Amino acid sequence: MTDSKRKILVTSALPYANGPIHLGHLVEYIQTDIWVRFQKQRGHNCTYVCADDAHGTPIMLKADQMGISPQQLIDQVSQEHQRDFAGFMVGFDNYYSTHSEENREFASTIYTRLRDKGHIARKTITQAYDPEKEMFLPDRFVKGDCPKCNAPDQYGDSCEKCGATYSPVDMKNAYSAVSGAKPIEKESEHYFFKLGDFEQFLRGWVDAHVQEQMIHKLNEWFESGLQNWDISRDAPYWGFEIPDAPGKYFYVWLDAPIGYMASFKNWCDKNGVDFDEYWNEASNTELYHFIGKDIAYFHTLFWPAMLEGAGFRKPNGVFCHGFLTVDGQKMSKSRGTFIMAETYLNHLRPEYLRYYFAAKLGSGIDDIDLNLEDFRMRVNADLVNKVVNIASRCAGFIKKKFDGQLGATLVNQPLYDEAVAAGESIAQAYENREYSRAMREIMAIADKANVYIDAAEPWVLAKQEGKEQEVQDCCTMGINLFRVILSYLTPILPEVSAEAAKFLNIESFDWDAIQQPLLNHPINKFKPLMQRVEEDKVNAMIEDSKQTLAAAAAAAPAPASAEKTPLQEEPIADEISFDDFAKVDLRIARIVKAEHVDGAKKLLQLTLDIGGETRNVFAGIKSAYSPEDLEGKLTVMVANLAPRKMKFGMSEGMVLAAGPGGKDLWILEPHEGAQPGMRVM
Ligand code: 2FM
Ligand code: ZN
Repeated sequence: MTDSKRKILVTSALPYANGPIHLGHLVEYIQTDIWVRFQKQRGHNCTYVCADDAHGTPIMLKADQMGISPQQLIDQVSQEHQRDFAGFMVGFDNYYSTHSEENREFASTIYTRLRDKGHIARKTITQAYDPEKEMFLPDRFVKGDCPKCNAPDQYGDSCEKCGATYSPVDMKNAYSAVSGAKPIEKESEHYFFKLGDFEQFLRGWVDAHVQEQMIHKLNEWFESGLQNWDISRDAPYWGFEIPDAPGKYFYVWLDAPIGYMASFKNWCDKNGVDFDEYWNEASNTELYHFIGKDIAYFHTLFWPAMLEGAGFRKPNGVFCHGFLTVDGQKMSKSRGTFIMAETYLNHLRPEYLRYYFAAKLGSGIDDIDLNLEDFRMRVNADLVNKVVNIASRCAGFIKKKFDGQLGATLVNQPLYDEAVAAGESIAQAYENREYSRAMREIMAIADKANVYIDAAEPWVLAKQEGKEQEVQDCCTMGINLFRVILSYLTPILPEVSAEAAKFLNIESFDWDAIQQPLLNHPINKFKPLMQRVEEDKVNAMIEDSKQTLAAAAAAAPAPASAEKTPLQEEPIADEISFDDFAKVDLRIARIVKAEHVDGAKKLLQLTLDIGGETRNVFAGIKSAYSPEDLEGKLTVMVANLAPRKMKFGMSEGMVLAAGPGGKDLWILEPHEGAQPGMRVM
């Protein structure tokens, strides 16, 4: 330990409780988890909390669509999220929900304090209202033609075609994405947080607590003036009712960051820790939030201002990161690169990705790219060929020839000292979130260790008379260097590190333990700590992602999230001309055979008769149909889709289906008068 024991509270952004965790999310959770594990390894008192972000219109509507209650939805998603995080070894000390009593209380306290100090304003505003569903519509739930370029089917806040931003009331042919009804305009009184009251405070705070690259963005916001922030929503809304305003609810983004406090409070109560010591205004503890750059506005303006106004401590740092691209492009469902956490884990080891992200992550907000070829090569070259290889080259000799006993001295003390001395710089790199630098420095030590072993050639010495001592000496060096390297990699590779600790016969990898080399020390039998990343496994993961997509693509898109999301989704497809449309050859098809596909979780194999010609099609409809339900039915297929080679065979077209997904998915069933082969016009 180099500095005294710190008390640190760390958070990652709270994922929405309406969708699965994917690799884009994991950049942040892995980044944070590495930081937390590093702090713990250094001996600090570091607590990592998170929760599901469980409120808001999208969650309410999704539950409605699925025919379950919001509570049922958030319970189910919470379990899935926690399963996926555990799968990637993200070690939260507490994982909670914003729909909790603790959060209701803190939200209420913060709101009441802000109100009593005059920081809440009320104003009547006009909003789009769905007369059929009897609810106000968030901008993203109104669709229509762009008022500027007339592009059809745009969201109510901005046009994905020309980039214009506008209010939903300005759209042409507007309709509710919830019911399809034409929205009307309706008035309602809303509650606003007066962010401008905190301008002075925020200007000072931001400079000292936010990354340089973000400050430029924040300055733009200051220049354009800090607007009052609308923190209320009308019923029906899934959230907390505002204490003194029946029928009005806190906007999800008001209680989301308060969820950090609530999750920590929940943990404190279970562990006998003093919550106030961490959150009172003059706290000496440290608080850090890791977030994506898209939600900086909420965390670097609203959140510190709310805390300031309500008399709580402010964060010591808000660490923003960039987005994930895959093979240089936005994650894409059609390319199979929109990879869910669960899909990845079905094929590959989590530590491969933890290492690869670490090797790419700096402290800034630049996007990082997961290049699948580079991923495989890098993990194999660095972890398997360089690091694990050091132990596997030395362990056998120690075990066989010296009964597992390491030697009494380090024959190359300067090399060992150099490796240990590098720890300070590596620690600094971790502390400053410059993981890519840390990985470079660690691999440089691994290179030197391998050069040392190459030159010492224990496998040659082992065959020579009287060279026993030299064999033991150089392998003792190798194993000790391996221990230093594994100690440095422990925040990245928790499982490999635990296995290595068993092999080395040590309790753990406390950061400073390497000051003392392992001499005259028994080690255990070496087992391979990591296999190579195989190309076919990566390909199988991509194929599996495509299958997941096939199932999802057959379903109608659920309404997009109305709140800000960190997803790097593909944009809505561009408008097509009539000629483009005319190119699609839609045919009536009879399902003559439907079968399960060995090893496919989502697909059924269909044999389709389109009037004298049969087609083999893999359709992602297994969640909704058994093969026997389908045989004999008529449906509609795209007959001129280029054949696609899938893992299970060639797919020669696509059947059309609609619905939210899962069990609720229906293939189109034309009237019986239609005959196989007829064109659909
Ligand atoms: O953007 C999002 O996914 C939000 N659910 C993040 C919330 S972070 C915190 F404020 F709760
Ligand atoms: Zn437009």
